[in-house]
Amino acid sequence: MSADDIERIIHSRISAMTIDKDKSVSRDIVERIILAAQAAPNHRKTRPLRIAVLESDARFRFGEAVAHTMQANGDDQIKVDKTRTKYGRAPVVMVVASAEGASELETEENRYAVAAGVQNMLLLIEALGMTALWSTPAKRTNHTMVEFCKFDDTDHVMGIIYLGWGTREAVRKERPAPIAHWID
Ligand SMILES: Cc1cc2nc3c(=O)[nH]c(=O)nc-3n(C[C@H](O)[C@H](O)[C@H](O)COP(=O)(O)O)c2cc1C
Repeated sequence: MSADDIERIIHSRISAMTIDKDKSVSRDIVERIILAAQAAPNHRKTRPLRIAVLESDARFRFGEAVAHTMQANGDDQIKVDKTRTKYGRAPVVMVVASAEGASELETEENRYAVAAGVQNMLLLIEALGMTALWSTPAKRTNHTMVEFCKFDDTDHVMGIIYLGWGTREAVRKERPAPIAHWID
């Protein structure tokens, strides 16, 4: 693979929820995507990545558990109701968490490492011709998510990745020029 090929994948990747919820994704593909995440840099080799792969009914049980906590937290009823079914919008939903470090700095750096891992996943997903969206976990639901996913209590959910096959050609976006200073 050439540098041009890698650049094409980097620049053509976009976030989208236009996913065929009924078209299955093989376990082999999901395992490759998880390995890509584990290949990201991580300081002091703390290996902070934690992933739960939710398929079939687990997506709805997860949604019910999160919605239950949101309801108890007094969240907006429309959001609560949407949460019950929203993870069913993709055939695979990956809950991605970062482990706590031995210090505040290590915890912070662990999260950078996991975020880098998520980008590796998204790039491989793009290269596989698939579609994904990184979504933010609802506030004050971390304890419910880590319990459901069999993570440690101290793990921090960084995002929920919807994964599947796209239903249509994604609309490419123009990205603004980066803010970069060249200093001699
Ligand atoms: C930490 C993080 C959290 C995100 N959470 C959401 C989300 O909750 N819902 C959503 O639609 N997109 C979410 N996104 C995706 C962004 O909206 C998306 O990356 C942004 O619009 C830029 O589009 P692009 O990824 O196609 O370049 C998230 C992205 C990151 C990095």
